[in-house]
Amino acid sequence: MELTRENFKQEVATFKAGFKEDAFSIAEKSLTLEKKGNIGVISFDQYQEKANKLSTPNMLRLFELCLQIEQDKSIEAVVVISRKPTIFIAGADISEIQRLARGEATTESLMKLQAVFTFLESLSIPVIAAIHGACMGGGTELALACDYRMASDGPETKIALPEVLLGVLPGWGGTQRMPRLVGLEKSLDLILTGKSLDGKRAKKIGLVDKVVPVEFLEEKALAWAQDLARTKKKRSYETPLKDRLLESVPGGKWVIFDQAKKQVMKQTKGNYPAPLRIIETLRKTYGGDLEKGLKVEAKAFTDLVVTPESQCLIGIFYLQEKVKKDKGVEGKIAGKDIKRAGVVGAGVMGGGIAQLFAAKGTRVRMKDIQWDAVAKGYKAAHKIFQKLVDKKRMKPNELANAMERIEGSVDYSGFSHLDLVVEAVVESLEIKKKIFQELGEKVSSETILATNTSSLSISEIAKATKDPKRVVGMHFFNPVDKMPLVEVIRGRETSDEAVATVFQYAKKVGKTPIVVKDAPGFVVNRILGPYLNEAVYLLLEGVSPTRMDSVMEKFGMPMGPITLLDEVGLDVASKVSHVLHQAFGERMKPPSVIDLVAKEGRLGKKSGKGIYLHSNGKREEDSDILNKMGVKAVKEISDDEIIKRLTYVMVNEAARIVDEGLVRDVSDIDIGMIFGTGFAPFRGGLLRYADKVGPEVIVSELDILNKTLGERFQPCQYLQQLSIDGKKFYQEAKAT
Ligand SMILES: NC(=O)c1ccc[n+]([C@@H]2O[C@H](COP(=O)([O-])OP(=O)(O)OC[C@H]3O[C@@H](n4cnc5c(N)ncnc54)[C@H](O)[C@@H]3O)[C@@H](O)[C@H]2O)c1
Repeated sequence: MELTRENFKQEVATFKAGFKEDAFSIAEKSLTLEKKGNIGVISFDQYQEKANKLSTPNMLRLFELCLQIEQDKSIEAVVVISRKPTIFIAGADISEIQRLARGEATTESLMKLQAVFTFLESLSIPVIAAIHGACMGGGTELALACDYRMASDGPETKIALPEVLLGVLPGWGGTQRMPRLVGLEKSLDLILTGKSLDGKRAKKIGLVDKVVPVEFLEEKALAWAQDLARTKKKRSYETPLKDRLLESVPGGKWVIFDQAKKQVMKQTKGNYPAPLRIIETLRKTYGGDLEKGLKVEAKAFTDLVVTPESQCLIGIFYLQEKVKKDKGVEGKIAGKDIKRAGVVGAGVMGGGIAQLFAAKGTRVRMKDIQWDAVAKGYKAAHKIFQKLVDKKRMKPNELANAMERIEGSVDYSGFSHLDLVVEAVVESLEIKKKIFQELGEKVSSETILATNTSSLSISEIAKATKDPKRVVGMHFFNPVDKMPLVEVIRGRETSDEAVATVFQYAKKVGKTPIVVKDAPGFVVNRILGPYLNEAVYLLLEGVSPTRMDSVMEKFGMPMGPITLLDEVGLDVASKVSHVLHQAFGERMKPPSVIDLVAKEGRLGKKSGKGIYLHSNGKREEDSDILNKMGVKAVKEISDDEIIKRLTYVMVNEAARIVDEGLVRDVSDIDIGMIFGTGFAPFRGGLLRYADKVGPEVIVSELDILNKTLGERFQPCQYLQQLSIDGKKFYQEAKAT
């Protein structure tokens, strides 16, 4: 049965059965209708919550308000507005989507909610969405169902349809109304990437009609509503011709669809069903009847939401939510507020860290030993900002302001007032200790001292200071502006306050932190160690670099292991592999050819030659270096075996990390691998993947590899125990 004005009460009663008793009274408090003269104002202010979300109760409440508006003939136009400071509508309620994922999804029940927006759209009077703040998913779909959209010009305004990032598609009309409004090409771009637009960019593509300063948003929307009340002009879908050029030529639409599909396949290797289904949905429905289109969309949504890929992506969403609420420590310890920071070492990492801090409004003092090194750091920071300006994500004056927040020095002047210092000098324990000793004398007794070391012991570095409690690891990944992960490393003596400060500040600058204990390689590099070693062993057995990379890309890694080695640099990889070997013994022994390649001066992409030859952004295999490495004649190794060897060694190492209690939760390993290495998100992370394969399967495969290829595959105690107990990393009971 459809949701209509006639059966509304009955439908509410049916829905009520599935929700908490007070869900509807909360919805009544959250969505209200007020009359300002002849204008009806629907205000959204989710009761006792920070964010407005479109739950089923809220959707039904909206329907109820639309019914009231329909009956009140004194209302001649409507404005929909949020009362939250930085959120219009954050999207649908993900917990409801999860319920759908558990198989409670029916296309019919989704279509009932679609009918709410269709009803809003069909009101005989004009409706304006006045948007300020995050307008995501369902929020954008609501706005699309309005006749007009006015957005604020504030940086908080971000309009998007990000459902694809959860492995689904917009299910409340987004795939239907967006293309009608902005044309096919722009819609595909928005729906397939989930990217967000600020008010001005949204206006440029015709997604919003007007952009105004946030202070005047309501006033201007009401004034516009008055005008519309006079003219009674409902919207018409009029995509400007320039946005319809390609689709309007014969066969143009199919070219757009084919190009989109090619692009998706190239980026996802077919691992994600949602983008392909989005293209198919638009292919089937674009230019057709809205009602039929909505049905196709609802069916696609309910099919996608139960896929394992969507469940994994929703799982990652929840991991991120958990990080958002986390303070990095147990109890109520609050981190210090960081207003002024210092960075020691203005190299690749130091320059990137200074840029990041300055971009987020922190004043940064960057120290190196020589002025030309400081200048390099400046240049590196400027280059990152300039790219943002080029992409129109930043204004030139904002660039100038941000660069002004970075000050250079070759001594510790100005360091006495800093709240946080991050050391990022060369990877030498001796030099780092010297710097920490100096810092101990130059900064105030309150300053938190962090190191960006990728392999040295935090506790050891901390010994150089009088107050090791304030020393903590803050391990960024390269390139700092792009890589989301920060490992926050707790040394033996590190205080909760230091951990909390760095954890919370990492979040403030937009990163995803995990807290790990101090052990060689921490989490991510330690897990990558055996993976990269194994890649070189496979290479020596005759698996070509290109094949191995493509197998692992198909598996879901953003780049294959050989490309990763060349990106990291053979010199750096060699150094880290030796640290790990020394710490963990035989199982981490690196193939000696890594050193050989590095010694040849083939350092990877940065020197134009590594295992591959690099030029003009392209890579090419080089038989010369493969011969020198002693690569054997091609041996038959299946794709499946390549994947097993490369991934099971990672699982084995991750199991040891869990066993040693180095992370606070197994999910931290998945966060680390996804946000630090790009490990296949659609698989939910390394340990979700391991759970899916099953520890018992992995153990038996490792046993075989152990016998045939060597002890590096010996399954660790923890993994064996999981296998014996029939348990999984996430401690879910074994499915029977
Ligand atoms: N490059 C990476 O991929 C990466 C990733 C994560 C962590 N790290 C870690 O970050 C740190 C820096 O690495 P990088 O790649 O930026 O190195 P880099 O060689 O690019 O920069 C090091 C900088 O430190 C400066 N320096 C040396 N001694 C100094 C001193 N006494 N005082 C002030 N400055 C001094 C050098 O002049 C140079 O500018 C290392 O600990 C490294 O392990 C590197």
